[in-house]
Amino acid sequence: GKGEHRHFMLKEIYEQPQVIGDTLNAFVQATTGRITLPDLPFDIAAIPRVTVVACGTAFYAGMVAKYWLEQVARVPVELDIASEFRYREAPMPEGGLALFISQSGETLDTLEALRYAKRQGQHILSVINVGESTIARESHAVLGTLAGPEIGVASTKAFTTQLTVLACFALAMARARGAITAEQEAAISAALREVPARAVDVLNHDERLRVLAHEVSEARDALYLGRGTSYPIALEGALKLKEISYIHAEGYAAGEMKHGPIALIDEDVPIIALAPNDALFEKTASNIMEAAARGGKVLLLSDAPGVERMRDKVRWTVTLPTVHPFVSPILYAIPMQLLAYHTAVIKGTDVDQPRNLAKSVTVE
Ligand code: M6R
Repeated sequence: GKGEHRHFMLKEIYEQPQVIGDTLNAFVQATTGRITLPDLPFDIAAIPRVTVVACGTAFYAGMVAKYWLEQVARVPVELDIASEFRYREAPMPEGGLALFISQSGETLDTLEALRYAKRQGQHILSVINVGESTIARESHAVLGTLAGPEIGVASTKAFTTQLTVLACFALAMARARGAITAEQEAAISAALREVPARAVDVLNHDERLRVLAHEVSEARDALYLGRGTSYPIALEGALKLKEISYIHAEGYAAGEMKHGPIALIDEDVPIIALAPNDALFEKTASNIMEAAARGGKVLLLSDAPGVERMRDKVRWTVTLPTVHPFVSPILYAIPMQLLAYHTAVIKGTDVDQPRNLAKSVTVE
């Protein structure tokens, strides 16, 4: 049941510290604290290219994984949504790895994309929440998310546990390929082990996000901006808002604003800017200032140094914990969920069962 929570979605948002921790524990060696994968039927050091395919929120998890795998494991990654990929007739390299991400394990387009990749001689690895599912069965190997049943149609804990698994996979691949130093590996795994505790800190901003949701609930349109791994989180934030509050929202790479979408900005379009204080912070900050200079009302999500630097330039701020940049997408996803959730509650929509949507999309 929903327990003390008003909706399954809120319950599932609050379960995240626990289920991220459970998922991590499946990969962390108790004695050494090292992140390891179960034995896989292929050699991850020898993979020429990874092709990541998924739908919806799972696709955005895959997009974060692309940044991680490229940056940390130095492996070329190709990424597409399943409904396009399955018909593209993309050539795939000999011995390549095709990676499918699905909460349900039953999404038809993702399944058909898997079958295509199999015919192309790829190794098939899936990140799945429902272990007894068709996609799990047809894969050569499965890495499970331990999110437990997700009832809310809007995916929340499935997403952050997918990110957790993908982070472990990227780290293991980086080590196998000799792409990172022992020091870098130790720093990232320490940061990952800290995520459940930091997720609790992020959930403490719930009330602040509920107050800010009143601003969003009055808008007809909203823009979400981010760079690097914050870009897929911006896309995910916009999807969450659309699907449960029915407010039109778009996620954009912050650097792409000036190529068109900046024309939309006025004081009626709230801008949700995701800007962890990482290597791209200054670049995102200058895009935020461009938007603010055109009358845009910006809600900045950053850590203490970032908020300090931008406080005078933006309308609202939320100060998230300072973490290793590698793990920031996992944590920044949570305020995206809460903002959408509270906006939907204010608007009185059916949060757990939004109109026109099904939990599992088994039709084309
Ligand atoms: O079960 P799957 O992960 O394959 O589902 C993929 C999408 O249908 C799903 O993530 C959808 O986008 C959610 N409603 C997002 O909240």
